[in-house]
Amino acid sequence: MCLLLSFYLQYISEFQCLDSDNSSGEYTDTNQRSSQMTLPNQHTSADVERGVQENGVKKHRTTLPAPMFPRNNFSIWSILKKCIGLELSKITMPIVFNEPLSFLQRITEFMEHTYMINKACTQTDPILRMQCVAAFAVSAVASQWERTGKPFNPLLGETFELVREDLGFQFISEQVSHHPPVSAFHAEGLNKDFVFHGSIYPKLKFWGKSVEAEPRGTITLELLKHKEAYTWTNPTCCVHNVIIGKLWIEQYGTVEIMNHSTGDKCVLNFKPCGLFGKELHRVEGYIQDKNKKKLCMIYGKWTECLWSVDPATYESFKKEKKGVENKKPKQNEEEIKSENDEADDMPEIQETVQVIPGSKLLWRITSRPTNSVQMYNFTHFAVSLNELDEDMKAILAPTDCRLRPDIRGMENGDMDLAGNEKERLEEKQRASRRERAKNSEEWQTRWFTQGNNPHTRTSDWIYTGGYFDRNFTDCPKIY
Ligand SMILES: *[C@@H]1O[C@H](CO)[C@@H](O)[C@H](O)[C@H]1NC(C)=O
Ligand SMILES: *[C@@H]1O[C@H](CO)[C@@H](O)[C@H](O)[C@H]1NC(C)=O
Ligand SMILES: *[C@@H]1O[C@H](CO)[C@@H](O)[C@H](O)[C@H]1NC(C)=O
Ligand SMILES: *[C@@H]1O[C@H](CO)[C@@H](O)[C@H](O)[C@H]1NC(C)=O
Repeated sequence: MCLLLSFYLQYISEFQCLDSDNSSGEYTDTNQRSSQMTLPNQHTSADVERGVQENGVKKHRTTLPAPMFPRNNFSIWSILKKCIGLELSKITMPIVFNEPLSFLQRITEFMEHTYMINKACTQTDPILRMQCVAAFAVSAVASQWERTGKPFNPLLGETFELVREDLGFQFISEQVSHHPPVSAFHAEGLNKDFVFHGSIYPKLKFWGKSVEAEPRGTITLELLKHKEAYTWTNPTCCVHNVIIGKLWIEQYGTVEIMNHSTGDKCVLNFKPCGLFGKELHRVEGYIQDKNKKKLCMIYGKWTECLWSVDPATYESFKKEKKGVENKKPKQNEEEIKSENDEADDMPEIQETVQVIPGSKLLWRITSRPTNSVQMYNFTHFAVSLNELDEDMKAILAPTDCRLRPDIRGMENGDMDLAGNEKERLEEKQRASRRERAKNSEEWQTRWFTQGNNPHTRTSDWIYTGGYFDRNFTDCPKIY
């Protein structure tokens, strides 16, 4: 157990690099992949490149260049078996459990539903505004649904930029610390109507059967025209059955969205699934004023939709429902609960959201691409993130994730190249750390500086500006 624990902890903290000895490699068989899987609607790379619509707005790719490499016969056990007796530092995880995105790209997925911010900006009623912000906060974590692939850990100094004229924002992020890993990001509305920024420090915990990622760090949304700032922290994300069984994702915890001007807040409870799965993916909460008076109720599922309703209607609906449920015989939950070594399977019961009459729809998830399962369960937005065309190559910072050869290799289905490049990059990172230590040099972040969040007064990373002037002469060479 002890070995297993240290093993998995190493995996999640990823101070390790990939096992370069692929000779044993079940996962190196690339022929198998191409014979087994084909992607529907697969574009040639020529189609994908240089897609510009007539109106001048850039078209984004709708598919990945290669289907996901099958994980079928990979269990952590099968890897562990080969590692018995090896020195701990020699044990490494194959990238077959990764997805071809850097964690910096993954956090960019907060922006997928930017239209909720735009909608918030146009609301004159402050409660409606808060509702939109709450819906944005929930939508920002919706892309986690069924995404059990692990994103690549960003290298120190790695950056990711994204300009989406169609969605109305530009975004820049930087890996500002390696131990502990901290990713800072800053997004702006192209109409100068909002600023969205934060720093994420994922704290990972291993619980035997699951890995829990608590995304520490504050997220701030400023609606400039309304002179309002809202802050919150994302819910905890848990990947179940990391050792045996089928991987699945759950998010839980309380997310409090504060309006710092008034003390109004929105409290959203992401519910743990519970024994019978009744609460799976459920989100419930309310908006209250500074006197703790509930102004509106919010409910739904982060995997589906979010509704709002007035508190009185909500309460009477709940009372009625309870009356009905109490008539049913009650099962003793304690009896069923047991500690065992079996997989914690995802509960089957997944009734969808029961809409209370009089509710207003705040947000609904968009469907994923039809071939999403062969693309790591990516959303349309996620599919486009690592796209790289010639025009872009010419202007990107040399530290941009899109230029990472290991992620590019995996995206193209070349797992050997990906694995070897990942190891090379991590070794390069270690070497330059040793070099800095020898010369007593400190790492200099490039686009963010450590400071305090002006609203919460907690430690945060602040964008220093200038990225989009695109003077990249003194960017570090990390690849
Ligand atoms: C995976 O395992 C199953 C059953 O053990 C076997 O039939 C199948 O051929 C294996 N697939 C691969 C890709 O090794
Ligand atoms: C947030 O604070 C601002 C500034 O005081 C206030 O005008 C607004 O009504 C508040 N918004 C919400 C949603 O409570
Ligand atoms: C994608 O979703 C399917 C369906 O739920 C699931 O079986 C599969 O494991 C998921 N794939 C990844 C990479 O998470
Ligand atoms: C770019 O930055 C470098 C170093 O910071 C500076 O010396 C140089 O003048 C800048 N170039 C331009 C075109 O601004």
